[in-house]
Amino acid sequence: RTVPVIAIDGPSASGKGTVAARVAAALGWHCLDSGSLYRIVALAGMRAGVALDDEAALAALAAALPASFADGRVLLDGVDVSAEIRSEACSVGASKVAVLPAVRAALLDRQRDYRAAPGLVAEGRDIGSVIFPDATLKIFLTASAESRAQRRYKQLMEKGMAANMESLLQDLQERDARDAARPVAPLKQLPDAVLLDTTTMDVEQAVSFVLERVPADR
Ligand code: C5P
Repeated sequence: RTVPVIAIDGPSASGKGTVAARVAAALGWHCLDSGSLYRIVALAGMRAGVALDDEAALAALAAALPASFADGRVLLDGVDVSAEIRSEACSVGASKVAVLPAVRAALLDRQRDYRAAPGLVAEGRDIGSVIFPDATLKIFLTASAESRAQRRYKQLMEKGMAANMESLLQDLQERDARDAARPVAPLKQLPDAVLLDTTTMDVEQAVSFVLERVPADR
C-alpha cells in the first residue's frame, strides 16, 4: 500500500503554505514546503557570489545543500534563515533558479524522500505534475493577483519588514509569468486537479475544502 499524498500546487502567495501546514496538522501527516528548497538554493547562491543563471554551480549547491528543517524553522549551515528566505530578494531569486532543469533535478529525490507514513501534504508548483504524479488528491490553489499581493503585504508588515504594494504586485505577476512560461515543470492546473480559488475565502474555509476531499479509504 502506497503512502497517500495530497499535492497542493498554485501561484505565489496564494496561501498554499498555510493551508498545507493546517491540513497536515489536522491529519497528523508530514508536510513539505517545496518552495523553501528553491529559496534556500537562491540564498546559498547569492551568499556564495554565484550568478543566479549559473546552472552547473547552482545544481552543485542544490545537490549538497547543507539545509535542515526543524520545528517549522529552516536552517542553512546550522543558522536559522527562516525569515531571510521569505524576503523579496529570495522570492525573486528562487523563481530564477527554479527555471534551471539541473537545479530541479538535483532537488527531486530530496522532495520524494518526504513521502512517509502516515501521509504527506506537499505544496509547490509541480508536486502533482512531476514530484508525485500519483498523488491521492491534487489541488490547484489560487487567488486573484491583487488579493495575493494584499496578503503578502499584510504578512510583511506584521513581520515588521518593508513592503510596497505596487512593487509586490508587479513582482508577483513577473514571478507568475516566469513560473508559467518555463519549459520545465511549468505551473499549470492539471486536468485531474481540483480548483480551489481562495480569493474570497479565509484559511479555515480553504482547509475544510481540502479535508472534505481526502478519500476516506486512503
Ligand atoms: O512557493 P514559493 O513562493 O515559496 O516558491 C518560491 C519559488 O520557487 C517559486 O516562485 C517557484 O518559481 C519555485 N518553485 C518551483 N517549484 C516548486 C516550488 C517552488 O519552481 N515545487
